[in-house]
Amino acid sequence: MIKQSILDNIEKYHQEQLLRYYEELDDEAKASYERQLEELDFSYIDIFNNRNSSESSMDNVYEPLQAMKIEEIESRKDEFRQAGIDALKQKKVGAVLLAGGQGTRLGFDKPKGMFNIGETKELYIFERLIQNIMDVVNETGVVVPLFIMTSEINDKDTRAFFEEKNYFGYDKDYVFFFVQSMAPSMSYDGKFYMEAKDKICLSPNGNGGWFSSLIRAGLVDKMKEIGVEWLNVFAVDNVLQRIATPEFVGATLLSGYPSSAKVVKKADPHERVGVMCKKNGKPSIVEYYELTEEMANEKDASGEPAYNYGVILNYMFRVKELMDIAGNSMITHIVEKKIPHIDENGELVKPEEPNGYKFETLILDMIHMVDDCLVYEVERSKEFAPVKNKEGVDSVVSARELLKLNGYEI
Ligand code: UTP
Repeated sequence: MIKQSILDNIEKYHQEQLLRYYEELDDEAKASYERQLEELDFSYIDIFNNRNSSESSMDNVYEPLQAMKIEEIESRKDEFRQAGIDALKQKKVGAVLLAGGQGTRLGFDKPKGMFNIGETKELYIFERLIQNIMDVVNETGVVVPLFIMTSEINDKDTRAFFEEKNYFGYDKDYVFFFVQSMAPSMSYDGKFYMEAKDKICLSPNGNGGWFSSLIRAGLVDKMKEIGVEWLNVFAVDNVLQRIATPEFVGATLLSGYPSSAKVVKKADPHERVGVMCKKNGKPSIVEYYELTEEMANEKDASGEPAYNYGVILNYMFRVKELMDIAGNSMITHIVEKKIPHIDENGELVKPEEPNGYKFETLILDMIHMVDDCLVYEVERSKEFAPVKNKEGVDSVVSARELLKLNGYEI
Protein backbone atom coordinates (compact mmCIF):
# COMPACT_ATOMS: atom_id res chain seq x y z
CA MET A 1 0.00 0.00 0.00
CA ILE A 2 1.21 3.46 -0.83
CA LYS A 3 1.77 5.54 2.28
CA GLN A 4 -0.60 8.44 2.85
CA SER A 5 2.30 10.94 3.04
CA ILE A 6 3.34 9.94 -0.48
CA LEU A 7 -0.21 10.19 -1.80
CA ASP A 8 -0.36 13.66 -0.25
CA ASN A 9 2.83 14.66 -2.08
CA ILE A 10 1.52 13.27 -5.35
CA GLU A 11 -1.59 15.37 -4.98
CA LYS A 12 0.22 18.47 -3.74
CA TYR A 13 2.72 18.38 -6.61
CA HIS A 14 0.20 17.25 -9.28
CA GLN A 15 2.10 14.05 -10.06
CA GLU A 16 -0.93 11.75 -10.56
CA GLN A 17 0.75 10.22 -13.64
CA LEU A 18 2.94 8.28 -11.19
CA LEU A 19 -0.10 6.21 -10.19
CA ARG A 20 -1.36 5.52 -13.70
CA TYR A 21 -0.21 1.87 -13.86
CA TYR A 22 -0.04 1.00 -10.19
CA GLU A 23 -3.20 -1.13 -10.14
CA GLU A 24 -1.91 -3.19 -13.11
CA LEU A 25 1.21 -4.30 -11.23
CA ASP A 26 1.61 -7.64 -9.47
CA ASP A 27 2.41 -7.69 -5.75
CA GLU A 28 6.16 -7.85 -6.18
CA ALA A 29 6.23 -4.98 -8.66
CA LYS A 30 3.89 -2.99 -6.42
CA ALA A 31 6.25 -3.41 -3.47
CA SER A 32 9.25 -2.36 -5.53
CA TYR A 33 7.38 0.64 -6.92
CA GLU A 34 6.28 1.69 -3.43
CA ARG A 35 9.94 1.73 -2.36
CA GLN A 36 10.81 3.95 -5.31
CA LEU A 37 8.01 6.34 -4.40
CA GLU A 38 9.27 6.48 -0.83
CA GLU A 39 12.72 7.44 -2.04
CA LEU A 40 11.49 9.93 -4.61
CA ASP A 41 12.60 13.44 -3.78
CA PHE A 42 9.62 15.67 -4.52
CA SER A 43 11.66 18.77 -3.68
CA TYR A 44 12.96 18.69 -7.27
CA ILE A 45 9.55 20.07 -8.21
CA ASP A 46 10.17 23.07 -5.96
CA ILE A 47 13.55 23.54 -7.62
CA PHE A 48 11.85 23.38 -11.02
CA ASN A 49 9.10 25.80 -10.00
CA ASN A 50 11.60 28.26 -8.54
CA ARG A 51 14.00 28.03 -11.46
CA ASN A 52 13.53 31.64 -12.53
CA SER A 53 13.60 33.15 -9.07
CA SER A 54 16.86 31.50 -7.97
CA GLU A 55 20.19 33.32 -8.15
CA SER A 56 20.03 35.23 -11.39
CA SER A 57 23.18 35.61 -13.44
CA MET A 58 22.28 39.30 -13.77
CA ASP A 59 23.09 39.81 -10.07
CA ASN A 60 26.60 38.43 -10.35
CA VAL A 61 29.69 40.48 -11.05
CA TYR A 62 32.11 38.67 -13.35
CA GLU A 63 35.75 39.59 -13.93
CA PRO A 64 38.50 37.88 -15.88
CA LEU A 65 40.90 35.66 -13.96
CA GLN A 66 44.47 35.15 -15.08
CA ALA A 67 46.06 31.73 -15.34
CA MET A 68 49.53 30.59 -14.42
CA LYS A 69 50.80 30.35 -17.97
CA ILE A 70 52.74 27.53 -19.59
CA GLU A 71 55.92 29.66 -19.76
CA GLU A 72 55.86 30.34 -16.02
CA ILE A 73 55.17 26.68 -15.26
CA GLU A 74 58.08 25.73 -17.50
CA SER A 75 60.43 28.14 -15.74
CA ARG A 76 59.53 26.72 -12.30
CA LYS A 77 59.26 23.12 -13.47
CA ASP A 78 62.00 21.66 -11.26
CA GLU A 79 60.66 23.28 -8.13
CA PHE A 80 57.11 22.08 -8.86
CA ARG A 81 58.27 18.59 -9.78
CA GLN A 82 60.20 18.13 -6.59
CA ALA A 83 57.31 19.30 -4.39
CA GLY A 84 54.94 17.02 -6.33
CA ILE A 85 57.16 13.97 -6.11
CA ASP A 86 57.57 14.47 -2.34
CA ALA A 87 53.80 14.60 -1.85
CA LEU A 88 53.13 11.65 -4.15
CA LYS A 89 55.75 9.54 -2.43
CA GLN A 90 54.02 10.19 0.88
CA LYS A 91 50.71 9.07 -0.70
CA LYS A 92 49.26 12.47 0.04
CA VAL A 93 47.56 12.57 -3.36
CA GLY A 94 44.68 10.40 -4.52
CA ALA A 95 42.95 10.43 -7.90
CA VAL A 96 39.21 10.42 -8.48
CA LEU A 97 37.80 9.25 -11.80
CA LEU A 98 34.30 10.57 -12.46
CA ALA A 99 32.68 7.81 -14.47
CA GLY A 100 29.05 8.02 -13.38
CA GLY A 101 27.78 9.88 -16.46
CA GLN A 102 25.56 8.28 -19.07
CA GLY A 103 27.53 9.54 -22.07
CA THR A 104 24.31 9.96 -24.02
CA ARG A 105 25.98 12.01 -26.77
CA LEU A 106 28.33 9.15 -27.58
CA GLY A 107 25.40 6.78 -27.81
CA PHE A 108 27.38 3.81 -26.50
CA ASP A 109 25.26 1.51 -24.34
CA LYS A 110 28.03 0.54 -21.91
CA PRO A 111 30.08 2.71 -19.52
CA LYS A 112 32.02 5.27 -21.59
CA GLY A 113 35.33 3.97 -20.24
CA MET A 114 34.63 0.63 -21.94
CA PHE A 115 34.65 2.29 -25.35
CA ASN A 116 37.43 1.00 -27.59
CA ILE A 117 39.25 4.07 -28.93
CA GLY A 118 41.81 1.90 -30.72
CA GLU A 119 41.97 1.57 -34.49
CA THR A 120 44.41 -1.25 -35.11
CA LYS A 121 44.29 -2.72 -31.62
CA GLU A 122 42.06 -2.69 -28.59
CA LEU A 123 42.58 0.43 -26.50
CA TYR A 124 39.79 1.12 -24.06
CA ILE A 125 39.26 4.58 -22.60
CA PHE A 126 39.69 3.19 -19.07
CA GLU A 127 42.93 1.55 -20.20
CA ARG A 128 44.26 4.86 -21.57
CA LEU A 129 43.49 6.60 -18.28
CA ILE A 130 45.15 3.88 -16.25
CA GLN A 131 48.22 4.11 -18.51
CA ASN A 132 48.30 7.83 -17.75
CA ILE A 133 48.34 7.38 -13.99
CA MET A 134 50.75 4.52 -14.35
CA ASP A 135 53.31 6.99 -15.78
CA VAL A 136 53.31 8.74 -12.41
CA VAL A 137 53.37 5.47 -10.49
CA ASN A 138 56.39 4.34 -12.50
CA GLU A 139 58.11 7.67 -12.00
CA THR A 140 57.61 7.84 -8.22
CA GLY A 141 57.56 4.14 -7.42
CA VAL A 142 54.40 4.70 -5.36
CA VAL A 143 50.81 3.78 -6.27
CA VAL A 144 48.33 6.65 -6.45
CA PRO A 145 45.11 5.57 -4.69
CA LEU A 146 42.37 5.66 -7.31
CA PHE A 147 38.72 6.26 -6.45
CA ILE A 148 36.25 5.54 -9.25
CA MET A 149 32.75 6.98 -9.18
CA THR A 150 30.10 4.98 -10.99
CA SER A 151 26.32 5.22 -11.00
CA GLU A 152 23.63 2.64 -10.25
CA ILE A 153 23.32 2.25 -14.01
CA ASN A 154 26.92 1.38 -14.82
CA ASP A 155 28.48 0.22 -11.56
CA LYS A 156 28.20 -3.51 -12.20
CA ASP A 157 29.58 -3.32 -15.74
CA THR A 158 32.42 -1.03 -14.71
CA ARG A 159 33.60 -3.25 -11.86
CA ALA A 160 33.29 -6.39 -13.96
CA PHE A 161 35.30 -4.78 -16.77
CA PHE A 162 38.14 -3.81 -14.45
CA GLU A 163 38.18 -7.34 -13.04
CA GLU A 164 38.10 -8.89 -16.50
CA LYS A 165 41.01 -6.71 -17.66
CA ASN A 166 42.93 -7.28 -14.44
CA TYR A 167 42.78 -3.55 -13.69
CA PHE A 168 45.04 -2.99 -16.71
CA GLY A 169 47.98 -3.78 -14.47
CA TYR A 170 47.09 -1.27 -11.73
CA ASP A 171 47.39 -2.41 -8.12
CA LYS A 172 43.77 -3.37 -7.36
CA ASP A 173 44.30 -2.89 -3.63
CA TYR A 174 44.43 0.82 -4.40
CA VAL A 175 41.32 0.99 -6.55
CA PHE A 176 38.09 1.90 -4.75
CA PHE A 177 34.71 2.09 -6.46
CA PHE A 178 31.83 4.16 -5.14
CA VAL A 179 28.35 4.84 -6.47
CA GLN A 180 26.79 8.27 -6.95
CA SER A 181 23.17 9.21 -6.32
CA MET A 182 20.33 9.46 -8.82
CA ALA A 183 17.75 12.15 -9.51
CA PRO A 184 14.36 12.02 -11.22
CA SER A 185 13.82 13.60 -14.63
CA MET A 186 10.73 15.42 -15.75
CA SER A 187 8.83 16.64 -18.78
CA TYR A 188 8.76 20.28 -19.84
CA ASP A 189 5.50 20.69 -17.95
CA GLY A 190 6.98 19.52 -14.67
CA LYS A 191 5.79 15.88 -14.47
CA PHE A 192 8.18 13.19 -13.35
CA TYR A 193 8.81 10.73 -16.16
CA MET A 194 8.46 6.96 -15.80
CA GLU A 195 10.65 4.57 -17.73
CA ALA A 196 8.41 1.53 -17.24
CA LYS A 197 5.06 0.87 -15.62
CA ASP A 198 6.84 -0.05 -12.39
CA LYS A 199 9.80 2.28 -12.65
CA ILE A 200 10.30 5.98 -12.07
CA CYS A 201 12.79 7.49 -14.47
CA LEU A 202 16.02 8.22 -12.61
CA SER A 203 19.42 9.26 -13.89
CA PRO A 204 22.78 10.12 -12.31
CA ASN A 205 22.51 13.46 -10.48
CA GLY A 206 25.55 15.15 -12.01
CA ASN A 207 29.21 15.05 -11.11
CA GLY A 208 28.93 17.60 -8.28
CA GLY A 209 27.96 15.03 -5.70
CA TRP A 210 31.23 13.12 -5.98
CA PHE A 211 32.63 14.09 -2.61
CA SER A 212 29.42 13.50 -0.68
CA SER A 213 29.17 10.13 -2.40
CA LEU A 214 32.75 9.36 -1.32
CA ILE A 215 31.79 10.20 2.25
CA ARG A 216 28.64 8.08 2.05
CA ALA A 217 30.69 5.15 0.80
CA GLY A 218 32.96 5.42 3.85
CA LEU A 219 35.96 6.17 1.67
CA VAL A 220 37.01 9.28 3.54
CA ASP A 221 38.15 6.96 6.32
CA LYS A 222 40.11 4.99 3.76
CA MET A 223 41.77 8.20 2.60
CA LYS A 224 42.68 9.10 6.17
CA GLU A 225 44.12 5.65 6.71
CA ILE A 226 46.33 6.01 3.61
CA GLY A 227 47.18 9.64 4.40
CA VAL A 228 45.54 11.21 1.34
CA GLU A 229 45.28 14.99 1.76
CA TRP A 230 44.65 16.03 -1.84
CA LEU A 231 42.49 14.68 -4.63
CA ASN A 232 43.04 15.09 -8.37
CA VAL A 233 39.57 14.70 -9.85
CA PHE A 234 39.17 14.04 -13.56
CA ALA A 235 36.63 13.09 -16.20
CA VAL A 236 36.40 9.76 -17.94
CA ASP A 237 36.33 11.19 -21.42
CA ASN A 238 39.60 13.08 -21.91
CA VAL A 239 41.91 10.40 -23.27
CA LEU A 240 44.98 12.68 -23.40
CA GLN A 241 44.83 14.17 -19.94
CA ARG A 242 47.69 13.81 -17.50
CA ILE A 243 46.69 12.67 -14.04
CA ALA A 244 48.45 13.52 -10.77
CA THR A 245 51.60 14.62 -12.55
CA PRO A 246 54.29 15.89 -10.17
CA GLU A 247 54.37 19.38 -11.78
CA PHE A 248 50.65 19.98 -11.35
CA VAL A 249 50.59 18.51 -7.84
CA GLY A 250 53.66 20.54 -6.82
CA ALA A 251 52.38 23.80 -8.29
CA THR A 252 49.06 23.33 -6.49
CA LEU A 253 50.63 22.57 -3.13
CA LEU A 254 53.12 25.44 -3.39
CA SER A 255 50.37 27.91 -4.37
CA GLY A 256 48.88 27.63 -0.90
CA TYR A 257 45.41 27.51 -2.47
CA PRO A 258 42.90 24.81 -1.58
CA SER A 259 42.17 23.98 -5.20
CA SER A 260 43.51 24.15 -8.72
CA ALA A 261 42.05 23.75 -12.18
CA LYS A 262 43.76 22.75 -15.39
CA VAL A 263 42.74 25.03 -18.23
CA VAL A 264 43.46 25.37 -21.93
CA LYS A 265 43.26 28.39 -24.19
CA LYS A 266 39.84 28.35 -25.77
CA ALA A 267 39.69 27.36 -29.43
CA ASP A 268 37.26 30.22 -30.10
CA PRO A 269 35.31 32.69 -27.95
CA HIS A 270 32.16 30.55 -28.10
CA GLU A 271 33.68 27.13 -27.51
CA ARG A 272 31.37 25.01 -25.37
CA VAL A 273 33.58 24.75 -22.30
CA GLY A 274 33.26 26.26 -18.83
CA VAL A 275 35.37 29.40 -18.53
CA MET A 276 37.54 30.41 -15.62
CA CYS A 277 36.62 33.79 -14.16
CA LYS A 278 36.01 35.64 -10.93
CA LYS A 279 32.43 35.78 -9.74
CA ASN A 280 31.71 38.30 -7.01
CA GLY A 281 35.43 38.46 -6.23
CA LYS A 282 36.09 34.71 -6.01
CA PRO A 283 37.41 32.23 -8.58
CA SER A 284 34.57 30.60 -10.38
CA ILE A 285 33.66 28.85 -13.59
CA VAL A 286 30.99 30.20 -15.84
CA GLU A 287 29.32 27.64 -18.06
CA TYR A 288 29.45 28.37 -21.80
CA TYR A 289 25.70 28.92 -21.93
CA GLU A 290 25.96 31.54 -19.18
CA LEU A 291 28.77 33.47 -20.90
CA THR A 292 27.33 36.67 -22.33
CA GLU A 293 28.26 37.93 -25.80
CA GLU A 294 29.98 40.87 -24.13
CA MET A 295 32.15 38.58 -22.00
CA ALA A 296 32.95 36.30 -24.93
CA ASN A 297 34.22 39.27 -26.95
CA GLU A 298 35.98 41.23 -24.18
CA LYS A 299 39.75 41.72 -24.65
CA ASP A 300 42.46 42.24 -22.06
CA ALA A 301 45.23 44.90 -22.18
CA SER A 302 47.32 42.79 -24.55
CA GLY A 303 44.45 42.28 -26.96
CA GLU A 304 43.84 38.63 -25.97
CA PRO A 305 40.30 37.48 -25.11
CA ALA A 306 39.77 38.35 -21.44
CA TYR A 307 37.87 35.11 -20.73
CA ASN A 308 40.29 32.88 -22.55
CA TYR A 309 40.74 29.83 -20.36
CA GLY A 310 38.45 26.84 -20.56
CA VAL A 311 38.37 24.14 -17.91
CA ILE A 312 39.02 20.54 -18.94
CA LEU A 313 37.52 18.86 -15.87
CA ASN A 314 40.80 18.13 -14.17
CA TYR A 315 40.93 19.69 -10.70
CA MET A 316 42.77 19.30 -7.46
CA PHE A 317 41.10 19.85 -4.11
CA ARG A 318 42.47 19.72 -0.58
CA VAL A 319 40.44 17.21 1.43
CA LYS A 320 40.28 19.49 4.46
CA GLU A 321 38.35 22.18 2.55
CA LEU A 322 36.19 19.54 0.87
CA MET A 323 35.16 18.39 4.34
CA ASP A 324 34.43 22.01 5.34
CA ILE A 325 32.02 22.52 2.43
CA ALA A 326 30.57 19.00 2.42
CA GLY A 327 27.37 20.06 4.21
CA ASN A 328 26.74 23.11 2.03
CA SER A 329 24.03 22.89 -0.53
CA MET A 330 25.06 23.10 -4.17
CA ILE A 331 23.41 24.79 -7.11
CA THR A 332 21.11 22.38 -8.93
CA HIS A 333 21.39 22.88 -12.68
CA ILE A 334 18.32 22.08 -14.74
CA VAL A 335 19.54 20.62 -18.00
CA GLU A 336 17.54 19.86 -21.14
CA LYS A 337 18.07 16.28 -22.29
CA LYS A 338 16.56 13.52 -24.39
CA ILE A 339 14.78 11.33 -21.88
CA PRO A 340 13.41 7.91 -22.84
CA HIS A 341 10.12 7.31 -21.02
CA ILE A 342 6.75 5.62 -21.35
CA ASP A 343 3.82 7.57 -22.70
CA GLU A 344 0.20 7.57 -21.50
CA ASN A 345 -0.36 4.26 -23.32
CA GLY A 346 2.55 2.65 -21.52
CA GLU A 347 4.62 2.61 -24.76
CA LEU A 348 8.35 3.34 -24.60
CA VAL A 349 9.33 6.59 -26.33
CA LYS A 350 12.95 7.25 -27.30
CA PRO A 351 13.05 10.91 -28.30
CA GLU A 352 15.33 12.25 -31.04
CA GLU A 353 15.23 15.73 -29.54
CA PRO A 354 15.37 16.98 -25.94
CA ASN A 355 12.02 16.44 -24.26
CA GLY A 356 12.56 17.44 -20.68
CA TYR A 357 14.89 18.16 -17.82
CA LYS A 358 17.43 16.40 -15.68
CA PHE A 359 18.76 17.80 -12.43
CA GLU A 360 22.48 17.94 -11.85
CA THR A 361 24.98 19.43 -9.47
CA LEU A 362 28.36 20.14 -11.03
CA ILE A 363 31.90 19.83 -9.76
CA LEU A 364 32.77 23.16 -11.36
CA ASP A 365 30.63 24.93 -8.75
CA MET A 366 32.91 23.59 -6.02
CA ILE A 367 35.70 25.90 -7.20
CA HIS A 368 33.59 28.85 -6.10
CA MET A 369 32.74 27.15 -2.81
CA VAL A 370 36.35 26.79 -1.67
CA ASP A 371 38.27 30.01 -1.13
CA ASP A 372 40.79 30.15 -3.93
CA CYS A 373 42.04 28.33 -6.98
CA LEU A 374 45.28 28.06 -8.93
CA VAL A 375 44.44 28.33 -12.60
CA TYR A 376 47.00 26.14 -14.34
CA GLU A 377 47.43 26.31 -18.09
CA VAL A 378 48.27 23.17 -20.06
CA GLU A 379 48.88 22.76 -23.74
CA ARG A 380 45.65 21.97 -25.45
CA SER A 381 47.09 19.72 -28.16
CA LYS A 382 48.87 17.63 -25.54
CA GLU A 383 46.28 17.31 -22.78
CA PHE A 384 42.81 17.78 -24.18
CA ALA A 385 41.10 15.15 -26.30
CA PRO A 386 37.57 14.69 -24.95
CA VAL A 387 35.37 11.95 -26.33
CA LYS A 388 31.86 13.39 -26.14
CA ASN A 389 30.40 12.64 -29.58
CA LYS A 390 30.77 9.95 -32.22
CA GLU A 391 32.14 12.36 -34.80
CA GLY A 392 32.83 16.04 -35.30
CA VAL A 393 33.97 18.27 -32.46
CA ASP A 394 35.19 16.50 -29.29
CA SER A 395 34.57 13.12 -30.78
CA VAL A 396 36.00 9.65 -31.18
CA VAL A 397 37.40 10.84 -34.52
CA SER A 398 39.12 13.97 -33.15
CA ALA A 399 40.42 12.13 -30.08
CA ARG A 400 41.98 9.42 -32.26
CA GLU A 401 43.73 12.08 -34.35
CA LEU A 402 45.07 13.79 -31.24
CA LEU A 403 46.31 10.53 -29.76
CA LYS A 404 48.20 9.80 -32.98
CA LEU A 405 49.62 13.34 -33.10
CA ASN A 406 51.00 12.74 -29.62
CA GLY A 407 52.75 9.60 -30.73
CA TYR A 408 50.37 6.98 -29.33
CA GLU A 409 49.89 3.80 -31.27
CA ILE A 410 46.20 3.16 -31.35
P1 UTP B 1 29.41 15.05 -19.13
O1 UTP B 1 29.05 16.41 -18.75
O2 UTP B 1 30.10 14.87 -20.43
O3 UTP B 1 28.10 14.14 -19.05
O4 UTP B 1 30.31 14.43 -17.98
P2 UTP B 1 27.83 12.64 -19.49
O5 UTP B 1 26.57 12.23 -18.79
O6 UTP B 1 29.01 11.76 -19.28
O7 UTP B 1 27.63 12.73 -21.06
P3 UTP B 1 26.38 13.23 -21.94
O8 UTP B 1 26.23 14.70 -21.65
O9 UTP B 1 25.19 12.43 -21.55
O10 UTP B 1 26.83 12.96 -23.35
C1 UTP B 1 31.58 14.91 -17.64
C2 UTP B 1 32.20 13.94 -16.66
O11 UTP B 1 31.42 13.83 -15.48
C3 UTP B 1 31.03 12.49 -15.26
C4 UTP B 1 31.10 11.83 -16.62
O12 UTP B 1 31.22 10.42 -16.47
C5 UTP B 1 32.31 12.52 -17.20
O13 UTP B 1 33.51 11.95 -16.68
N1 UTP B 1 29.67 12.48 -14.70
C6 UTP B 1 28.66 13.15 -15.32
C7 UTP B 1 29.44 11.73 -13.58
O14 UTP B 1 30.36 11.09 -13.03
N2 UTP B 1 28.17 11.71 -13.08
C8 UTP B 1 27.15 12.39 -13.65
O15 UTP B 1 26.02 12.32 -13.14
C9 UTP B 1 27.41 13.12 -14.80
